[in-house]
Amino acid sequence: MEVFTSIPAFRNFLKQQRASGKTIGFVPTMGALHNGHISLLESAGAENDLAVCSIFVNPTQFNNPADLEKYPRTLEADTELLQAAGCSAVFAPSVQEMYPDTAVMTFNFGNLETVMEGVSRPGHFNGVGLVVSKLFNIVQPDKAYFGQKDLQQVAVISRLVSDLSFQLELVICPTVREESGLAMSSRNQRLSDKEKILAANIHRILSVAKESLLKGQTPETVRTNAEAEFKKYEAFTLDYFEIADLKTLETISEIGSTGNNAICVAVFLGPVRLIDNIVF
Ligand code: PAJ
Repeated sequence: MEVFTSIPAFRNFLKQQRASGKTIGFVPTMGALHNGHISLLESAGAENDLAVCSIFVNPTQFNNPADLEKYPRTLEADTELLQAAGCSAVFAPSVQEMYPDTAVMTFNFGNLETVMEGVSRPGHFNGVGLVVSKLFNIVQPDKAYFGQKDLQQVAVISRLVSDLSFQLELVICPTVREESGLAMSSRNQRLSDKEKILAANIHRILSVAKESLLKGQTPETVRTNAEAEFKKYEAFTLDYFEIADLKTLETISEIGSTGNNAICVAVFLGPVRLIDNIVF
């Protein structure tokens, strides 16, 4: 497995692979890899001749400089995991390589970025749109793999692909969880063992909410109950708890047909911000 840091060298490698008829599955990441990322890589490997991965902590999607600085960087461990998972090449560019000049171009995802993460992290989806567009142009994959864990990101990137006519297929993979139910996340590394046990309540509260909705409780009642449940734990500071339409991400007052409803949550556990969701 080769590790590339230069755009031209990585492009050259991919060009050769494409010339020999190989299909390319691409997994963009910010590193600090865990089994959630690896599951995407395994799907990419199973569905394409080649699975390639990028590791780039993208500064333009962080609105909080402290968060960017604290983001775990574990390139050596990451490359070992990727090699074991059958990755063919890793692209790990520097900030200078990706942004030789400060980017001036901006994205506007309309309603998709005026809710949930968009409210709490202004400019975040602009940065995601920018870096993912750059990565798609560099890699030109046949398929690109994203996790359901970042549900709003999936909605934004789906629009990006359709609005800009990127010639690739998006593949959305299910959220990989710890046995406790806690969604795997690079940020979990910043939690103590005790906090990890506490954090498992996020998935539990989401699951209770889903069951209550399916039993006929209104979204309004379910949301009020869930907010009260989070309040019971002193360590949690709830950012948002939304019951929304999966496609538009707009808050709903009654649930829609199966597969079109999402419950999304963002919560602080001390300084660590965790997000999770359930689609049903
Ligand atoms: P990152 O947070 O590293 O996530 C990379 C990919 O892994 C994303 O598609 C994310 O949804 C997926 N992922 C994370 N945790 C997961 C889990 N528990 N189960 C399944 N998939 C999971 O998302 C980003 O990086 C960045 O915004 C990026 C798209 C790379 C642009 O910078």
